Amino acid sequence: MKITKGTRAFLTGAGSGIGRASAIELAELGCELFLTDINARGLEETRGMISDKPGRVCKSRAFDIRDLSAVKAFADEIHQEFGPMDIVMNIAGIALFAQIEDMTHQHWEKVIGVNLWGPIHCIECFLPEMIRVKKGHLVNVASIAGLTGAPWHAAYSTSKWGLAGLSEVLSNLLWSISPYHQSFNSLLNLSFSQPESVVGLCQNFALSIVIFSV
Ligand SMILES: NC(=O)c1ccc[n+]([C@@H]2O[C@H](COP(=O)([O-])OP(=O)(O)OC[C@H]3O[C@@H](n4cnc5c(N)ncnc54)[C@H](O)[C@@H]3O)[C@@H](O)[C@H]2O)c1
Repeated sequence: MKITKGTRAFLTGAGSGIGRASAIELAELGCELFLTDINARGLEETRGMISDKPGRVCKSRAFDIRDLSAVKAFADEIHQEFGPMDIVMNIAGIALFAQIEDMTHQHWEKVIGVNLWGPIHCIECFLPEMIRVKKGHLVNVASIAGLTGAPWHAAYSTSKWGLAGLSEVLSNLLWSISPYHQSFNSLLNLSFSQPESVVGLCQNFALSIVIFSV
C-alpha cells in the first residue's frame, strides 16, 4: 500500500516526540490524520504544526489510552464517519527507571497500563476493521528494552516485551487471514529522529504488523 493523499492514519502519542514527528511526516505525504494523546495542549500544538501541510487532521481527541471506553468511543466515531484506518500507530508510552525494590504496585500498573493495555485497547478497537477489508498497517512502537532486560527497567521491559510478543502473534495471524497478503514483521533499531523510517516501512506492503524497537 502506497501512502498517498487521503491515506488514513490513527496515531497515539501524537502530542510530542515520535508521535508528533510521525504525524508531521504523514501530513507531508497528504494523509488524513486521526490523532490522540493524553496531553491536550501537546495535541493542539501538533495540529498547529500540520496546518500548512498537504494532509489534514480529520479528528483529534485527548484521552488516556488506558481507558478502553474512551478508545472505543473514538474508534466507533471514526469508523462511522471515515471507515477503516489504513495505518494504526501505537506510539504513546511512558518510561520508568527504577530498581524493583523501589517500585510500588501503582508504578507497575501505570507503566503496563499505558505501554501494554493502551496498545491492546487500540488493537481491539481498530484491527478488526482492517482485517475485515484485508488492508492496513499496524505499527507498535516497542523498545530495545523489549529485547533486553536492564535491571532498572522491570516494568518498562515487561510492557515492551509484551507488546513485541503480541506483535509477533499478530504477524503470524496475518498468514491465516489471506493467502494473498504480504506480511512484514521486523525488529528494528532506529533512532527516534527517523520517523520517516517507520512511515517508509508501510509503503510496500498491503497488510503488515511492524514492531518498531527504538
Ligand atoms: N525516545 C526514545 O529514545 C525511545 C526509546 C525507546 C522506546 N521509545 C518509545 O517510543 C514511544 C514514544 O516515545 P517518545 O520518545 O516520543 O516519548 P514522548 O514522551 O515524547 O511521547 C509519548 C507521548 O505519549 C503520551 N502519553 C503518555 N501517557 C499516555 C496515556 N496514558 N494516554 C495517552 N497518551 C499518553 C504523552 O503525553 C506523550 O505525548 C514510547 O512508546 C516509548 O516507550 C522511545
